[in-house]
Amino acid sequence: MALGKEYHGRHAPCFCVYLLLFITISVRIDIPPNRSTYNNLINACGSSGNWREALKVCKEMTENGVGPDLVTHNIVLSAYKNGSQYTKALSYYELMKGTKVRPDTTTLNIVIHCLVKLEQYQKAVEIFNSMREKRSECIPDIVTFTTIMHMYSVSGQIKNCEAVFNTMLAEGLKPNIVSYNTLVGAYASRGMAQEALSIFDKMKSNGTRPDVVSYTSLLNAYGRSEQPERAMETFEQMKRNKLKPNLVSYNVLIDAYGSNGLLDKAVQVLREMEHDGLQPNVVTISTLLAASGRCCQKVNIDSILTAAKMRGIELNTVAYNSALGSYLNAGEYEKALSLYKLMRKKKVMPDSVTYNVLISGCCRMSNYSEALEFLDEMIALKIPLTKEVCSSAICAYTKQGQLAKSESMFSMMKMEGFQPDVIAYTTMLNAYSVGENWEKAFAVFQEMELNGVLPDAIACSALMRSFNRGCQPDKVLLVADFMRERNIPFTEAVLFELVSASSILRDWRMITEITTTMEASLPYVSVGTLNQLLHSIGKSGKTETMIKFFYKVVTSGTEVNLTTYSVLLKNLLASGNWRKYIEVLEWMEDGRLQPSSNMYDDILFFAQRSGGTENAAVIKQRVESLRKKSGHETTNELLWR
Ligand SMILES: *[C@@H]1O[C@H](CO)[C@@H](O)[C@H](O)[C@H]1NC(C)=O
Ligand SMILES: *[C@@H]1O[C@H](CO)[C@@H](O)[C@H](O)[C@H]1NC(C)=O
Ligand SMILES: *[C@@H]1O[C@H](CO)[C@@H](O)[C@H](O)[C@H]1NC(C)=O
Ligand SMILES: *[C@@H]1O[C@H](CO)[C@@H](O)[C@H](O)[C@H]1NC(C)=O
Ligand SMILES: *[C@@H]1O[C@H](CO)[C@@H](O)[C@H](O)[C@H]1NC(C)=O
Repeated sequence: MALGKEYHGRHAPCFCVYLLLFITISVRIDIPPNRSTYNNLINACGSSGNWREALKVCKEMTENGVGPDLVTHNIVLSAYKNGSQYTKALSYYELMKGTKVRPDTTTLNIVIHCLVKLEQYQKAVEIFNSMREKRSECIPDIVTFTTIMHMYSVSGQIKNCEAVFNTMLAEGLKPNIVSYNTLVGAYASRGMAQEALSIFDKMKSNGTRPDVVSYTSLLNAYGRSEQPERAMETFEQMKRNKLKPNLVSYNVLIDAYGSNGLLDKAVQVLREMEHDGLQPNVVTISTLLAASGRCCQKVNIDSILTAAKMRGIELNTVAYNSALGSYLNAGEYEKALSLYKLMRKKKVMPDSVTYNVLISGCCRMSNYSEALEFLDEMIALKIPLTKEVCSSAICAYTKQGQLAKSESMFSMMKMEGFQPDVIAYTTMLNAYSVGENWEKAFAVFQEMELNGVLPDAIACSALMRSFNRGCQPDKVLLVADFMRERNIPFTEAVLFELVSASSILRDWRMITEITTTMEASLPYVSVGTLNQLLHSIGKSGKTETMIKFFYKVVTSGTEVNLTTYSVLLKNLLASGNWRKYIEVLEWMEDGRLQPSSNMYDDILFFAQRSGGTENAAVIKQRVESLRKKSGHETTNELLWR
C-alpha cells in the first residue's frame, strides 16, 4: 500500500527468482548481501503471493547477521496479508512489538486490515482510535480511514461508515477512489440509491474519475432499490465513458433485473455478456436461479441449470441452494429432491442454508414428514441448526402431532442461544393451540413479552385461538384489550376469534363493535369470517342487525357463499321472521344462487306448524312461485298436493 514504489516489481515472480539466484551467487563469492537487497527479495516473493518463500529469506537474513528493520517487518507483514495469512500476520506483529523497531502507519494499516478480515472489529477500532489519539507517532492516513470505512460497510454499519468518511474530510484528507467506492458500496448494499448517487457525483466534481467499481456499486444501489431501469442507464453510462464492464458489473446488472422480477431481461444480459466475451461464472448462475425462483418459473430453472452444464460451470453450495429454493417456490418437490441428491453425489457440501431451504420448503408444501427427515440428516451431518430451521422444525413437529418434540426443539433453540423471534414464538403458540393447551400457550406469550419480543397480530390471534379452544372466551377479550393498548391491528383472524368468544359470552356490545370494524374493511373480509359473524349476530337474536349487515356485505361486493345464506335463513326461521326468509330466498335467486331443497322444506314446515292458516297460504304461494322460477321441486311440495 504505502510501500515505496521500488518494492513493486512488475514481474514479481521472475524478480524473486532472479534475486534468489543473485544472493546465492554473491554469498558464494563472499560478498554478503546488504539489508536493502534482502528487503527487495522478501518483497518480491511476498507480492507474488509467495509468503512462505518470503519468510525463508527473512530467516536467512537474520542468520547471516543482517537484522530486520521496519521496512523488513512491513514487507513481511504485507507478504502475509497478500497471502491471506491474517492470523500469522497478527502473531508476527505481536513478536515485532517485542523488538526495538517501532511500528509506523503502514504497519498498523496492515494490522487493522487483518483484524477486519478476521472480523475482530473491536480491536481494529481500538488501534484506529489509539492512532488518532497519539497523533505524533502513527498518523492515520487515507488507507487507515478507508480500511475502517470498509469495516463498517461489511458489518452493515452504514451510518458509521459515513461518519468516518466525514471525519476524514474534516481532518483535511483528500479521499481517494477507494474511499469513495467504499462509501458508494456501503450505500448500495442497503439500496440507498440517492445517497450513493450523491457521493458518486461529489467524487466526479472533486476530480476523481469513477472507475468500473464505482459504476458497478451505483448500479447495484439502483438494483437494490427496485429501479432496474436506472441500473441499466448506469451500465450504459459506464460503457459510454469508455469503461469496460467486468464480470461483477454484469452479475450485478443481472441481479438488478432478476430481483425485480424481470427474468427475461436478466437472461438477455447473460447473452450480451457472452457476446462481449465474458464467461458467466457460478455467481451469474446463482443469481439467475434465485431470480427464476422469485418468478416461480420452473421451466427457467431447468434451462438455467442446462446452460450452466453446457458452459462447464460447476455449481457450488450457494448455486445449489438458489436452485433448490427456486424449485420449492415453484412447488416442484420432486425436482428439488433429485437436485439435492445430485448435490450430495457431486460431494458439494450442504450448509445450514440448504437445509433451511429444504425444511421450510417442505413445511410450506405441507410435507412435514419429509421436513423432519431433512432435519435428521442435517443433525447427522453436524451442520449447526439455525433459528429458521428450529422454527420450521417446531412447525413440522406440531403438524405431525408431536407436541413433545416441538417443545424440546423450542427449548433446544433457546439453549443454543437463539433468542426466539416473533415467528418462533408464534409457531409455539400455534403448537399449543393445536394441542389445546391454553395454559402453556399463555405462558409462551408471557415469556415472549418478558424477552422484549413484541407480539404481532398473528401471535395474538394464535393465543386467542387457544383460549377459544380451551373454553376461555373472557381471556380472548382481554387479549383484545391488550392489542388496543399496544396499537396492534385487528386482522381478520383476530376478528374471527373475537366473534367466536363474544358470541359464547353473549357480549352484544363487542359484537356491534366488531361489526363496525369489519364494515370498514368489507370487500377484503373472507367468507368464513363473515359467516361466523352473521351467525353470532343472528344467534344473539338481533336478526334486524344481521340483515342490515348482510345488505352492506352484498352491496360492497364481498364474496358470499351458500353457507352465508344458510346462516341467515336458519336465524330468520328461529326468530319466526318468514317474510324476511322468503325475501332472502329471492335475493339468492336474483344472485343466481340456487337455494337447496332444505331451504324450501324448512319454511314450508314452519308454515304448516306455526305460521297460522292465513300466513301458511301466503308462504305456500310465494314459495311455489319461487320454485317454479328456479324449476326446483321440493319434497314438501309433493306432500302438500
Ligand atoms: C546493497 O547492495 C547492492 C548490491 O550489491 C548495492 O547496489 C546497494 O547500493 C547496496 N545498498 C546499500 C545501502 O549499501
Ligand atoms: C498478492 O499480490 C499479487 C501480485 O501483486 C496480486 O496479484 C494478488 O492479488 C495479491 N493478493 C492479495 C490477496 O492481495
Ligand atoms: C471536495 O473537495 C472540496 C475541496 O477540496 C472539499 O472541501 C470537499 O470536502 C470534498 N468533498 C468530497 C465529498 O470529497
Ligand atoms: C411429499 O413427499 C413425498 C415423497 O417424496 C411425495 O411423493 C409427495 O408428493 C410429497 N407431497 C406433497 C404434498 O408435495
Ligand atoms: C363457504 O365458505 C366457507 C369459508 O371458506 C367454507 O367453510 C364453507 O364450507 C363454504 N360453504 C360452501 C357451501 O361452499
